[in-house]
Amino acid sequence: MVKHKKIFHFTFYEIETELIKKKINKLFNSAYEIAKKAYSPYSNFNVGAAVLLENKKIITGNNQENIAYPSGLCAERTALFYTKSKYLNQNILAIAIIALKNNEITDNPVTPCGACRQVILEYSSMQVKKIKLFLIGKHKSIFIPNAENLMPLKFSF
Ligand code: THU
Repeated sequence: MVKHKKIFHFTFYEIETELIKKKINKLFNSAYEIAKKAYSPYSNFNVGAAVLLENKKIITGNNQENIAYPSGLCAERTALFYTKSKYLNQNILAIAIIALKNNEITDNPVTPCGACRQVILEYSSMQVKKIKLFLIGKHKSIFIPNAENLMPLKFSF
């Protein structure tokens, strides 16, 4: 048996949401507007994701639920799969994620689920540039400069 003890450095910044709003205004508004349009009748939890590409395009997506619950899809993957089905070779520069409960941005920023992290990491491995993540909360937000740090030991073969 060989013991592997790896140290993972995970750097993220807590930033006032007002500041993030100024810094990435267009991306912020795109995530916010698409979150409002989510189809989430079962959870009433609306999530919006906005993907910024190197060609300056912003692609958005929201969570799509289904009465057969596992058939639904998170906002991040809705946005990313559409993005890559249209612009496979474009670098992803940043992704902004916003969740709404009763039409208000959640106090705590939403962090992508494991399946979404796996998808983000695969696209990240296709490019040299790091994918930045902006997780938006009502007052405090989180900026993650390198999405790869989100999940050690991603699935791969
Ligand atoms: N959801 C997302 O869209 N993104 C996340 O990062 C977490 C969860 C969705 C899935 C489901 O429609 C609802 O939020 C409640 O879990």
